[in-house]
Amino acid sequence: MSSYGDLLRWGEQRLDHSQRAGFLLEDAAARSLVWLRAHAKDAAPADIEQRYRDWVERVAGGEPDAYVSGVTHFWKLRLRVTPDVLIPRPDTETLVESALEMGGERPQRVADLGTGSGAVALSLALERPTWQIIGTDRSAAALDVARRNALDCAFSGVRWRQGNWYDAFATDERFDGLVSNPPYVASDDPALAPAVRQYEPASAVIADDNGLADLSVLIGQAPDHLHPRGWLAVEHGYAQAEAVAALFARAGFTDIQCRKDLAGHPRVTCGRLR
Ligand SMILES: C[S@@+](CC[C@H](N)C(=O)[O-])C[C@H]1O[C@@H](n2cnc3c(N)ncnc32)[C@H](O)[C@@H]1O
Repeated sequence: MSSYGDLLRWGEQRLDHSQRAGFLLEDAAARSLVWLRAHAKDAAPADIEQRYRDWVERVAGGEPDAYVSGVTHFWKLRLRVTPDVLIPRPDTETLVESALEMGGERPQRVADLGTGSGAVALSLALERPTWQIIGTDRSAAALDVARRNALDCAFSGVRWRQGNWYDAFATDERFDGLVSNPPYVASDDPALAPAVRQYEPASAVIADDNGLADLSVLIGQAPDHLHPRGWLAVEHGYAQAEAVAALFARAGFTDIQCRKDLAGHPRVTCGRLR
């Protein structure tokens, strides 16, 4: 039997001295790192030790931490993730910020297309309790994860619909705002990290037409589902900003703006219908 301190030291060594061992032990033991350090000399229960050692070995083998522990953090939320959903990325917080700015404070109806774990829809629900929010996805398994996260966050007001982009809506159904982080990586993109290719769902990451196929549908058909002066915010690859701005202009959007992510790369484009 090992103490919490022994387990932390072992994990840190196994994971090249990274802080990830501490996060894994927090999740395996359901205790904060502060508590674990304060109880460093206490013997860890056998089931916790076994779970933690198994998780550390899987992470050392290349599996993403969030799939191993089943949780990640996004915006101000702790979210469950499974291999059925993309692990929400910090860069996508730029999309949340953009949607909050585009929508402002007034009550409105907003859809998050391709919601995955529900990360964007639930972050908007947290910040704008008066908004009516619908999260959609083509994947039933992803929507199960999103529903579970909504229950955990006690956001009973968010609704979920399954469908291929706008097929999730009635033909005449309109919103004040639409937000989406669709698949936008080309299948042959050499920058695609091997761990993403190996572990994350390809249907959440890869898009045809050099990564622009889904963006093209989402932007091109958005005017059919927005009220006049309605807004659209989409995440895209850093090299796609020009092509995405052209799609916005072609679809009839004005006030087209591109925002940068945490690394300073163009990441989110927003626009408003005339
Ligand atoms: C990049 S992930 C984004 C997930 C989540 N919104 C986030 O930001 O973490 C794209 C999501 O779009 C969904 N998706 C892909 N193609 C779709 C389609 N044709 N119709 C609806 N959803 C789709 C995937 O299942 C996946 O959940």
